[in-house]
Amino acid sequence: MGRLIIISSRLPFSLDKEGDKISLRQSSGGLVSAIKSYFENTSAQRNDLTGKIWMGVADFPQEDWAQAMEQQDAGQEFEVLPVFVDKDLYENYYNGFANSVLWPLFHYFSNLANYETQYFDAYVQVNQLFADKILPLLEPGDQVWIHDYQLMLLPDLLRKKRPDATIGFFLHIPFPSYEIFRLLPTEWKKTLLHGVMGADLIGFHTYDYVQHFLQSVKMLLGVDNYFHNLQYQDRLIRIDLFPIGIDYNKFHLAASDPEVEELRDKILKDLEGKKIIFSVDRLDYSKGLMNRLNGFEYFLERYPEWREKMVFVLNIVPSRDTIPAYNDRKKMIEEKVGTINGRFSSISWQPVIYRYNHLSFKELVALYQAADVALITPLRDGMNLVAKEYVASSTGGRGVLILSELAGAASELGEAILVNPTDTSDVASSITRALAMPLYEQRNRIGLMQRRLQEYDVFKWVNDFMDQLIQVKQEQQKQKVKLLDDKTMAAIQRHYQGAKNRCLLLDYDGTLVPFSKIPSEAAPDNAVKDLLGRLAADPKNHVVIISGRDVNSLDRWLSFLPVTLVAEHGASFKMRNSNWQQKVSVSDLWKEEIRRVMQMFVTRCAGSFIEEKTNTIAWHYRNTQTGLGFSRSRELLNTLSQLIQNTTLQVIDGNKVVEVRIGGFDKGAAALKIINEMDPDFVLCMGDDTTDEDMFKALEGEAYTIKVNNGASSAQYTIMSQQQVLPLLQSLLQPRTIPNSEPEVQLPEAHH
Ligand code: UDP
Ligand code: G6P
Repeated sequence: MGRLIIISSRLPFSLDKEGDKISLRQSSGGLVSAIKSYFENTSAQRNDLTGKIWMGVADFPQEDWAQAMEQQDAGQEFEVLPVFVDKDLYENYYNGFANSVLWPLFHYFSNLANYETQYFDAYVQVNQLFADKILPLLEPGDQVWIHDYQLMLLPDLLRKKRPDATIGFFLHIPFPSYEIFRLLPTEWKKTLLHGVMGADLIGFHTYDYVQHFLQSVKMLLGVDNYFHNLQYQDRLIRIDLFPIGIDYNKFHLAASDPEVEELRDKILKDLEGKKIIFSVDRLDYSKGLMNRLNGFEYFLERYPEWREKMVFVLNIVPSRDTIPAYNDRKKMIEEKVGTINGRFSSISWQPVIYRYNHLSFKELVALYQAADVALITPLRDGMNLVAKEYVASSTGGRGVLILSELAGAASELGEAILVNPTDTSDVASSITRALAMPLYEQRNRIGLMQRRLQEYDVFKWVNDFMDQLIQVKQEQQKQKVKLLDDKTMAAIQRHYQGAKNRCLLLDYDGTLVPFSKIPSEAAPDNAVKDLLGRLAADPKNHVVIISGRDVNSLDRWLSFLPVTLVAEHGASFKMRNSNWQQKVSVSDLWKEEIRRVMQMFVTRCAGSFIEEKTNTIAWHYRNTQTGLGFSRSRELLNTLSQLIQNTTLQVIDGNKVVEVRIGGFDKGAAALKIINEMDPDFVLCMGDDTTDEDMFKALEGEAYTIKVNNGASSAQYTIMSQQQVLPLLQSLLQPRTIPNSEPEVQLPEAHH
């Protein structure tokens, strides 16, 4: 491996300037906490890194940079690469597009999103600035890891100039459901997805975010996933979940740091043995601070027995406060704190202790340790590291975590008391439950969560991501489909001539015959019939037409030939010189429901039509207006995928067709069945469509697999068009002079 280059909008430090004096402060937020922990702990890092670079915007003037660097620790763990951005441009990029469009929308606050054109323009420009700065510095072997929503266009900007670069992207915030994402203006949303897809590996915190992303890619770019993989513009891209962890030991071991102990004891003494409820968040509407205060107020009202016996220490860390939505929130919170304290305080007691400032690491851990209850109730949060840090900091298993079910962390911290932050009475009753929780139960819950956090800490997170990134690159390499050249063809011909028991597996539509506007009119012409006849006449050949077509069409067009016919992707077989066998015999009641839905799409999309076969029902949109047909097909896919959940049916996104079929049959299984029975010493397999990929995968290492038409594929070779198919097959019958040199191609072994 080479250098690890981290690129995030924010550098790990910000600059505080008082007069001429400059000091550095760690930037707040989960992204910085996580990456910084990784860089600080050299013993947990990969040992094959040859360098570490962190690139980000220096949110201070260029002239202060040199002085700021002198403040850095001498033994800096990584090289810092600052990007300087003009003030107005930065304003439109950071406060504008990043934090007044993407942040609110991705956190489901669509009403706060402000779709200003100049914001998007600035976002494009700043992403380009990043690209311009890093591109000349990139070296072979570098691993570029781009972080978060501020830089979604950067992966593609780098990819364009460096097609072979290794690029990872991680989103630290939620990826919203398609219904929210689609609110973005059309050009923006496509540009964002396309931008991210420049990466080789795209990571999210939770399974839901992965699903949401895949859904948007399917609906907007028309790219379907295969498990966690996407084929986009001839490249394999992996989308996966990597729930971010924390530096568990750093928090857990801080308990025995004398300074932390001293700070914690002071807090406990100052609060005179009262129970402590604690929270810390950046100032952000996504953190649900108003709802939290409402819940706390209701708790005081509803459970008066707790008054004077507890305090709520509410810490807010300054953030983005020049944006009105943030600043307004701050005022509202402060008013609310005033109201609660005014309403419930006594001469000797005040229920809310409010602080608006940054906390040092030691102060933070001291508070985590002193708190009996952490009340972490965001309305949305990509992950929420504070919740994890609180759990890790507990010693002796003391402490109760109340966590919003809408935080990403909730899917890993199921032993917390999970609440819906908008449910005031739920929040209130959770507080009483937490305050009264017996120690053995606290220990039980904390213990289970601690074990999980220790297991998948931030080091595992980074290393896991990097391992996967390397793996994707290797798979891409393996997957590069080679254009079938003369030399390879000659080697195939030689193999064909020497073989005694050959199997030719040929797809029909798009391979043997060109696509026709009306499927029923795609009958084979004389050239096809003649060629198939001659191939089949050779006793060493077993020709198999393997198709998604129904029995009737194949029977009508091809049954006069001594070939095997496979209809509906393997649901029916006609072995050569024998009769049709139906492999599936289930009631076809399921078709009624699917037909009804497809009929609706026929009405809504002129030119589309339904084709019904024994085990399949298909909606064709080849003859529709291009944009409309495509967008309706995305809607149909979506509707059908929902509809067939918990059934044995399958939906296939084919070439201008959406098909629903009975599961358990595919061309891969059908092809394997045939070659297992005949044990051939030469197998050639050709196809052009999604369903042919099943054959290419199943026959890996067993056959010459050839994909017709450009596009990513699991096939070994590709030819550029359907017109080349017949000449290729013809050349097997009449080989040209074959060069004598040894082939440089990898020949599949004879099947055993
Ligand atoms: N944190 C901080 N400064 C503070 C208080 C907290 O940097 O004054 C850290 C905290 O330790 C945590 C991060 O900020 O690691 C907050 O991450 P989280 O995922 O909870 O929320 P985010 O701020 O990223 O939305
Ligand atoms: C969240 C985001 C980060 C961001 C941080 C602090 O954690 O995911 O990308 O850096 O908040 O926000 P700020 O705007 O101060 O960088």
